[in-house]
Amino acid sequence: MRESRLILALDVYDREKALEIAERTADYLWAIKVNWPLITGSGLKIITELKQVTGLPIIADLKLADIPNTNRMIASKVFEAGADYIIVHGFVGRDSVEAVMGGLGKTIIVVEMSHPPGAKEFIQPVVDKLIELANELKPFGGVIAPATRPERVSYIRSKLQEGGIKILTPGVGAQGGKAKNAVKAGADYVIVGRFIYGSDTPPREAARGLYEEISEVV
Ligand code: XMP
Repeated sequence: MRESRLILALDVYDREKALEIAERTADYLWAIKVNWPLITGSGLKIITELKQVTGLPIIADLKLADIPNTNRMIASKVFEAGADYIIVHGFVGRDSVEAVMGGLGKTIIVVEMSHPPGAKEFIQPVVDKLIELANELKPFGGVIAPATRPERVSYIRSKLQEGGIKILTPGVGAQGGKAKNAVKAGADYVIVGRFIYGSDTPPREAARGLYEEISEVV
């Protein structure tokens, strides 16, 4: 089986539900992304449990955007719990991002967001600066770009220097983006939540369908 490029966005509150969805879909995933809903609903230990149960990398989508000391303190506990990657905002500045990079795991920087129209309001005008920051701060895990706008993924890909900077794209399914188009545009990974755990299709089937769709174009 080809290595997966699919990341499950596990945005549920409940521990048992999260573990069940993760177990059922794990065969078709590269990683699991946890966000505040699951952390506030089930506690930080859910990161440790998900890792034990699935053996997959865990991405903590905290979108950290604080002063360096606070970013560092939060990241330290989250990496200790077993997270392999933490997502941070770049707009708070280089020092705040570097504070997370000094931790046990890797850092992923948001360079552009997927939600219309908010994403265009403040972040899009500074995307070039955020890409510059990402190029300068390597090595780290990657950058986040919007699957909802494949042309922006292509643009970001064209501006990123070589050197292993991955592009992770949320916005597929519930937000209207297509996995295939994001990958064709240059995304390395596709992040999908509600389309997998919140539709009429059972989560395992939905994950398998996305895995196959992506496999057709890579
Ligand atoms: P859905 O259910 O819409 O979940 O497939 C998407 C997941 O990805 C997160 N998300 C984003 N994260 N930049 C990010 O860093 C974005 O532009 C973005 N858009 C969605 C969202 O919080 C959810 O976990």
